[in-house]
Amino acid sequence: MTTNNEFGISAIGLAIPSYGLPLQELAKIRNTDATKFIDGLGCEVMALCNSAENVVTLALKAVQRALDNWGGKLEDIGLVVAATESSIDMSRPLSSWVMQELNLKGNIRSYEVKHACYGGTVALRQALEWKISGNSKNKVALVVAADVALYAQDHSGEPTQGAGAVAFIIGEPNIASINPISYYWSESQYDFWRPVGDKYPEVNGRLSLTCYINAMLNCFTQIAPKHELQNYLQEYNYICCHVPFPKMVHKAFAKLGQFCNIDPLFVESLYLQRVYATMDWNRKIGNSYTASLWFAVANALTKMQGQQQLLAFSYGSGCGAEILTLKCVANQQVATWVRQLEQDLTQRTIIDAAHYLEIRKSYDSSL
Ligand code: CAA
Repeated sequence: MTTNNEFGISAIGLAIPSYGLPLQELAKIRNTDATKFIDGLGCEVMALCNSAENVVTLALKAVQRALDNWGGKLEDIGLVVAATESSIDMSRPLSSWVMQELNLKGNIRSYEVKHACYGGTVALRQALEWKISGNSKNKVALVVAADVALYAQDHSGEPTQGAGAVAFIIGEPNIASINPISYYWSESQYDFWRPVGDKYPEVNGRLSLTCYINAMLNCFTQIAPKHELQNYLQEYNYICCHVPFPKMVHKAFAKLGQFCNIDPLFVESLYLQRVYATMDWNRKIGNSYTASLWFAVANALTKMQGQQQLLAFSYGSGCGAEILTLKCVANQQVATWVRQLEQDLTQRTIIDAAHYLEIRKSYDSSL
């Protein structure tokens, strides 16, 4: 078990649902030029659930994979935290489904975290802080961030839909260590919310863009003063961000450069090499809310070597944000969890516009 005070990611499990809808297909039925979705928003394919899938099945699949990839014993788990904003129950936490599936009970703390898309990061931080506190009694934490992101039909957010889950075992940093020092910021905003009983979120789209950018500026300028940020950013081989849609990240990054008076050419080249590259999976999955940043982080880890560092910027509407920094321990390019996701992406069923409209009927009439 843990031998020193450095903790981090011991194992990863990723899951996406069985259907993928190319954005060209959505454009056909929304009377929109597909280039708006593909170039304007940066989305390629959205991941969608079939009739047997939901946030619980996605979370369980990611958890099972993380456990298989970890190889430890269930008795070594002392904390189960699940983050979601698409919970199917207002009281019973998503973590209870995980406990049920794994037949876990006993001296385990289990709960669900909610703070829109920021929830996954909060869950991970709490697991890390629990390890650091000494109260873990040498056990590990199982963390899962899972969401199904859907908007009302024809809503401006519809092209950004997606779904997925990311699970971590937090303990010994076999894959990456997590720096206990982080940079956080929050304020109360109504940029994106889902009233109790409503199936789909309410969104103030323009405000949500401003809140994301403002949160980014406030977090990044805690790392270093504006005039020094350029040098600090170069310490990170990859900069991963919450990805509501890839173009959001590009826009925000450009604004950060402007705010800190960094040469726009430098900002663009940093973006292309260290930010854009991390969103390979996000472009093919869509927004997975709490899991979205962590798909980008997982992707970056496949490109990194030991001792290289990445920066992870988390944003959740409402709104809260935090930057975590991670140090890669071992390259993950050929890891099982990478192959599992690549296989899911290749083997999923690509559906057309007619099929999408069909499954929308069941989404819209459920609950
Ligand atoms: N070809 C190429 N580009 C085109 C185009 C075309 N034919 N038509 C339009 N575009 C471009 C536009 O110029 C625009 O680019 P710029 O912003 O660089 O100018 C881009 O496509 C998008 O167009 P619009 O701004 O007109 O798009 P919209 O208003 O229809 O929708 C949105 C944008 C409001 C953000 C919508 O996607 C939405 O409501 N999304 C949900 C909320 C969201 O994701 N907010 C992000 C921050 S909040 C957050 O991060 C939490 C979370 O996960 C939800």
